[in-house]
Amino acid sequence: EMVGYPKKILTGKRVLVSAGPTREALDPVRFISNHSSGKMGYAIAKAARNMGASVTLVSGPVHLSKPYRVDVVDVVSAADMFDAMTKEYDTYDYVIMAAAVADYTPKVIADQKIKKDTETTAFEFVKTKDILQYLGDHKSHQKLCGFAMESENMLENARKKFEKKHCDLLVANNIRTPGAGFDVDTNIITLINRDGNTELSQASKEELAYRILETLCK
Ligand code: CTP
Ligand code: CA
Repeated sequence: EMVGYPKKILTGKRVLVSAGPTREALDPVRFISNHSSGKMGYAIAKAARNMGASVTLVSGPVHLSKPYRVDVVDVVSAADMFDAMTKEYDTYDYVIMAAAVADYTPKVIADQKIKKDTETTAFEFVKTKDILQYLGDHKSHQKLCGFAMESENMLENARKKFEKKHCDLLVANNIRTPGAGFDVDTNIITLINRDGNTELSQASKEELAYRILETLCK
């Protein structure tokens, strides 16, 4: 735990956080997913709780224990996550979209296990709904924080997402930087908002969670 924390600056506030990957089913035994561990989103949910907020955490399938005194809503697919994140959107003050949502989902889910009866195969995918875009387009009083995971042109791509999705803060991380990204305990991030870009040095996901929330609250 950090010295001097937590300042209870979120007392009386409601915070909604998404975390982890989604899983998109192909058939009864298979799915498409990604390497998200959920650690950054869980750290944000716990930091918000420690700062006095009432917290709901919408979580994809992860191997993390349920945080104490946080309402956890378990979801599997991007469509489930959309429903959970939009259901009571108007009742939240701060919304943080830290989940790694699948961009595409199989056009059909086979009823039966797919057999290996051809030498090659192909699947058709359709785009999922962009949850952060929807939240940005339907914002009333909420402060909205998105994430961007980039492998090239990080600042340029991330600022485009910040603008397009009507975010108040966007957390950019480069997947190619050592000590950042999926399944590690530290991250190297740049905070993007109206005031400009702030590059933070490598820190634990716990410490960064406080920095992200403090910046979003300002
Ligand atoms: N996001 C979302 N719903 C989706 C896809 C992404 O809410 N269907 C959110 C992520 O949770 C993240 C932000 O959008 O907060 C940016 O995600 P990212 O994958 O970096 O960007 P995309 O907009 O999906 O674009 P691309 O993957 O093509 O870079
Ligand atoms: Ca994406």
